[in-house]
Formats: sequence, C-alpha cells, structure tokens
Amino acid sequence: MKIEGSVAVVTGGNRGFGRHLVTRLVERGAKVYAAARRPEAVDVPGAVPLRLDITDPASVREAAAVATDATLLINNAGIFTSTSLIDGDVGDIRREMETHYFGTLDVTRAFAPIIEANGGGAILNVLSVLS
Ligand SMILES: NC(=O)c1ccc[n+]([C@@H]2O[C@H](COP(=O)([O-])OP(=O)(O)OC[C@H]3O[C@@H](n4cnc5c(N)ncnc54)[C@H](OP(=O)(O)O)[C@@H]3O)[C@@H](O)[C@H]2O)c1
Repeated sequence: MKIEGSVAVVTGGNRGFGRHLVTRLVERGAKVYAAARRPEAVDVPGAVPLRLDITDPASVREAAAVATDATLLINNAGIFTSTSLIDGDVGDIRREMETHYFGTLDVTRAFAPIIEANGGGAILNVLSVLS
C-alpha cells in the first residue's frame, strides 16, 4: 500500500521494533499514532502519542474512538516471558496469550471497521516465535 498520506496506528510504538516502525512511517509521509501504555514515553518527532493497553478492552475502545482516521494498523505490541509451555508458570502463559492473541484480536476488531470506513487499507501483524 502507499505509505505517504496513510494514517497508521502502531501498537507498542514507544520502543523497540515499534518505535523503529513509527520513525520510518513518519519519514515516509504517514500520519502516525504511536500507541503506547505510557504515551509520555513516545519520543519520535512528528508522531501522535496514543494511549493504548492492548489487554484492556476499555483502553482499546478509547484508542479507537480517537484514531478514527486510521487506514493502517500494525499490531506490534508484545511480551516475551521465556516461559516453558510444558512446565512453566501458567500465569505467564496466560499473560502471553492475553497480549499476543486476545489483545491483538481485540485491537484488530476495533480498528477493522474504522479502516473499512476510511476506504480500506491494511493490517499488519508482527508475529513472535510464540505464534
Ligand atoms: N525482539 C525479537 O527478537 C523479536 C523476534 C520476533 C518477533 N518479535 C515481536 O516483535 C514485536 C516487538 O518486539 P520488540 O523486540 O520490539 O519488543 P520490546 O522492545 O520488548 O517492545 C515491546 C513493546 O510492546 C509494548 N507492549 C507490551 N505489552 C503491551 C500491552 N499490553 N499494551 C500495549 N503495548 C504493550 C511495550 O510497551 P511498554 O514499553 O509499556 O512495555 C513495548 O512498546 C513483539 O510483538 C515481539 O513478540 C520480536
């Protein structure tokens, strides 16, 4: 898709790979919502900080109510606990599923209708070895 003129939402946009994506998208002429649990941590010039915890349904609804012009969603936010699926802590495994599976699904469900209403666009999922 054409990046220039698109409106991107990048989850986990405050650091790591997400911050890199935010930087590159801004450089290429997109409006970019850098979504983060702590929006004050967003430091990329030109990016629009957006409060979003992908595991909190109310936070997801609030973010979707703000970024109503989105045409590109990048589901990047993630965690990695190194927990073994066989004998690791089930709480850690649940947290990973709440983040990578249900959190990503909730954000996708919130933004898919917005992207569609804006004429279509794209949803990109950054996967983990967890998948
Ligand atoms: N690093 C690798 O080798 C690697 C390899 C393959 C895939 N990946 C995947 O690539 C993505 C980015 O990885 P990374 O290395 O850049 O990770 P990172 O540096 O640990 O950054 C993770 C980002 O996700 C955010 N995040 C975590 N839980 C969140 C939640 N519930 N709601 C909103 N944001 C949340 C973090 O926010 P906070 O700052 O608030 O914690 C942070 O911005 C992840 O999905 C990861 O699984 C990474």
